Amino acid sequence: MASAPQLTVNEALLAAYQGAIPSHVAVIMDGNGRWAQERGMMRLKGHRAGADAVRCVVESCRYLGVDILTLYAFSSQNWGRPVEEVSGLMTLFDIYIKKERKRLLENEIRLQVIGDRGRLSKKLQRAIGKLEEESAHNDKMILQVAVSYGGREEILAATRRIARAAADGALDPDEIDEETFGRFLYTEGRPDPDLVIRTSGECRVSNFLLWQIAYSELHITDTLWPDFDEAHLLAAFSDFGNRQRRFGKTADQVSS
Ligand code: FPP
Repeated sequence: MASAPQLTVNEALLAAYQGAIPSHVAVIMDGNGRWAQERGMMRLKGHRAGADAVRCVVESCRYLGVDILTLYAFSSQNWGRPVEEVSGLMTLFDIYIKKERKRLLENEIRLQVIGDRGRLSKKLQRAIGKLEEESAHNDKMILQVAVSYGGREEILAATRRIARAAADGALDPDEIDEETFGRFLYTEGRPDPDLVIRTSGECRVSNFLLWQIAYSELHITDTLWPDFDEAHLLAAFSDFGNRQRRFGKTADQVSS
């Protein structure tokens, strides 16, 4: 029998929530640097505080019954940041995997890292691969962490693989539709995000899931990522619940 989830979230607050719960939530976790600078700290301290917010949001989503949570942790463009910040972030991902392993497994969460993992150190690639394998059968929630990820890069990588398959005769070009294309992306055809949350007030998508967010609802909050907690998550869900998703149809068509 499955064990009860081991969560360190504000359960009373989450349990009282009666609103909509998106099936797939994607988050652009922004504002770690400003959070640290406002406190006279090194940027890396902001990323460390950001990792605590990651635990809170992962466990809150698990508690609420979200099916997929996708977190934008490190973009293809972030490789251009100062070396100390890049290596500090890589160390943080490694620590996260070691520290959260037990909790992720106990809570039956499946980890999937999306992005160009070939650019990560061999050690980090091994740690990621091991936890992906160990958690492969977990079905309570999928946690997709985007590392060394770029939406354009993902589309290009998929296009190359599709072109190769077509050249090998394994794929008929006339049969390439959205569903086929989606299967070649890092997200391997998993459902698209219903809701994208971006923290720190910036109003842009920053090369995140460009194919997959075509019809996602956007929620932008001024809160800096390290301050993002259960209450902010519920506010985002509640905002999502007030949207009418039309997927290109009219309001009348959708409501009938
Ligand atoms: C953007 O804020 C944030 C990042 C580039 C890193 C995100 C990493 C974490 C939240 C920590 C670890 C994550 C995991 C999955 C363990 P920024 O640095 O661009 O902030 P700024 O715009 O204020 O400078």
